[in-house]
Amino acid sequence: MVDYRTVKSVAVLEVNNPPVNALSYNVRQGLQDGIERANKDKEIKSIIIIGKGRTYPAGADISEFSKPHKGPNLIEVGLGIESSRKPVISAIHGTCLGGGLEIALFSHYRIALESAKVGFPEVALGLLPGAHGTQRLPRVAGMAFAMEIITSGRHVSAREALQHGILDKLVKGNLLSESLDFAASLPFSVPHNRRLRNVPAKGAENADRIFEVALNKVKQKQNGFIAPINCLKAVKAALLPYEEGAKIERELFMELLTSGQAKAQQYVFFAERAATRWYVSNEKNQKKCSAVPVKTTGVIGAGTMGSGIVVTLLRAGLPVILVEQDSQNLERGVNMIKGILQGSVNLKRMTSQQMNKCLQQLTPAQSLDSLHNVDLVIEAVFENLKLKEEIFGKLDEICKQQTILCSNTSTLDIDKIARATKRPDKVIGTHFFAPAFVMPLLENVYGTKTSGETIATVMNLGKTIRKIPVLVKTCHGFVANRMLARYQTEASFLLEEGCLPHEYDQVMEEFGFPMGAFKVGDLSGLDIGYRIRQELAKANGYTVTTDTRYIQGERFSSLADKLYELGRLGRKTGKGWYKYDRPGAKEAFVDPDVTDIILKHCKDAGIIRRKISTQEIVERSMYSSINEGFRCLEDGVASKPEDIDVIWLHGFGFPRYRGGPMYYASTIGLAEVYDRICYYHKTFPESSYWVPSDLLRKLATSGRNIPMSDWSTAATVNKSRL
Ligand code: 3HC
Ligand code: NAI
Repeated sequence: MVDYRTVKSVAVLEVNNPPVNALSYNVRQGLQDGIERANKDKEIKSIIIIGKGRTYPAGADISEFSKPHKGPNLIEVGLGIESSRKPVISAIHGTCLGGGLEIALFSHYRIALESAKVGFPEVALGLLPGAHGTQRLPRVAGMAFAMEIITSGRHVSAREALQHGILDKLVKGNLLSESLDFAASLPFSVPHNRRLRNVPAKGAENADRIFEVALNKVKQKQNGFIAPINCLKAVKAALLPYEEGAKIERELFMELLTSGQAKAQQYVFFAERAATRWYVSNEKNQKKCSAVPVKTTGVIGAGTMGSGIVVTLLRAGLPVILVEQDSQNLERGVNMIKGILQGSVNLKRMTSQQMNKCLQQLTPAQSLDSLHNVDLVIEAVFENLKLKEEIFGKLDEICKQQTILCSNTSTLDIDKIARATKRPDKVIGTHFFAPAFVMPLLENVYGTKTSGETIATVMNLGKTIRKIPVLVKTCHGFVANRMLARYQTEASFLLEEGCLPHEYDQVMEEFGFPMGAFKVGDLSGLDIGYRIRQELAKANGYTVTTDTRYIQGERFSSLADKLYELGRLGRKTGKGWYKYDRPGAKEAFVDPDVTDIILKHCKDAGIIRRKISTQEIVERSMYSSINEGFRCLEDGVASKPEDIDVIWLHGFGFPRYRGGPMYYASTIGLAEVYDRICYYHKTFPESSYWVPSDLLRKLATSGRNIPMSDWSTAATVNKSRL
């Protein structure tokens, strides 16, 4: 794991633990042994620590956190490096992160390739840099920079790191030979100030003010997370004598390590990576199927979603032909695309040149014929099956044989859309989330006949356009909207039974969602839900009015439709579940008119309102969705619980520190969740979605604590018994 070799009078310790040279037990032991050996060898004058392959160590081995501790810990290894009598140089390339950066800061010198990045991403894992990183970074880079870097977890370029004193030198070309030259230029002993414990933290004079500003920022931006607050406290402790500060860092680290948040966030780290791996069958899976290259694209529909999707494709360097039937909508869509890109320029996320380059790659058009030669098309027209079938039929005639045809439908069956073509193997759902240029999730939806090659291509496309792609099987609403429907329905019933929109939203925001269901409703527009309900009614042969209380025996709330009919469409009209200063404004105010509408609705329907507890709001919102999540596993619509969690984290802003709904259920305990679902099923028999999922029942009553990794297997066994 650490190869020891000598080059003239230099000992080179090369960390060799692919893929990211994580500092697992063998690496820590190897570094400690190497430092000792080099110090004992009279021929050796200095020591270089370097990573083999793509990177310098990118941090501690996260998979070891949940296992019993073995061998020297990172602090012991680091202290051994610092006390080395012979100068230790960290030679950095790739991503020097977390424990890796701590090892570098224990070293006496740091030299890096210009392409390298450094950072402390521990905060994203619910932790702080616990091997004296919080004590050492302020000693080179100052309190303010250390607080910013450690609480944001951002990767800092080598050039910026050099400016802030984290690195001593940048080099080009061969890192090892540059480091050997650097080693040759050093004195034989280690100067006092190269051992960072001997150096005071910079910026001590303004530390209190810097701390307060940083604390306010994290409370605003990372509300609910404990780690950023502990990170700040630990950095502030760097003002104390070194040993005292390190002791405080340790206490704060242990507090986080044993917190539920850190476990959840570490689960998310692996879940996000697991979700990009896909398997449909022995023939259709990631290992066997390759993506076809996508060099040119087309988007149909220049509305809200189409325009956002175009921006995402353009930003990834892909040329796009945008087809829109209506010339005014086309002009509005192109202006929206320009506006979004200009916004990125204003925020310094791209340069004007990059924006212009993107716009040169955009070809607006009004005829589907212009798509004849593109590699991939994404359709984003109105949510109407007939219209989509018609468009896919035409595309099948127009596009070259190899073109992959994708739909951004949010609910419709991909198999039905595919049937309109003679190439169902090349038809797939690519479900983006609004706003498409912001939300990281891409829910890819395969149909019965979608080929492995088509799946591989859109999963690959997801990565190319910097989204998090998750693969699910077709059904009404797929995974995201199928589960969300339960959540939203319960929210509307809770309004009927006793909550007001702001009371409901406050509970769910305290749970950790960035916005409650009613603020989200106002943001998306109440017309969207209204149209979906009307379309569904048409498709299924029933009618929905503001007097409807039951649809095909299922309880229904017409409150949202009442608001729609009053022209309360949400933010865009300045009125929805809340009121706003003006149309388009963001700040929501409680509206007494809405309270009156709700109270009248309840009176007319003979509903006696009651006080609803926080627990009931959370349980009914989350457990109804979780029950549906288990059904998705049962049906094979989702292939693993991690996929569901990633969908909620990146599509709906579920709080990372709770891991995702399925992980959250595992922390509550499936037996408890199942019991409560049974209770709600008994209490609300007119909502069939409360019927407990068979898979959940089986897992919950097994008498064992079945790990999440086995839930999908249990689902397969379950299905074969049905
Ligand atoms: N520990 C264990 N496994 C790790 C790991 C780590 N620190 N970092 C990455 N991996 C694994 C991933 O799980 C993945 O495995 P898989 O192929 O089986 O899914 C594989 O390495 C490759 O990772 P990515 O797919 O993420 O590769 P990328 O090239 O996209 O990204 C990276 C590379 C930027 C290094 C990214 O992996 C990353 O951000 N890693 C985590 C870095 C981190 O959080 N470091 C801090 C750890 S905590 C710590 O050091 C505590 C200390 O302060 C005490
Ligand atoms: P939208 O109403 O904003 O835009 C649709 C556009 O398609 C309009 O500009 C319309 O003129 C155009 N169009 C209609 N028929 C056309 C045709 N034959 N050829 C070319 N253009 C045509 O709709 P929105 O909200 O962008 O939704 C599009 C799709 O994305 C729908 O399937 C919807 O369900 C889905 N979706 C919507 C989300 C949202 O939050 N709005 C989220 C995720 C998916």
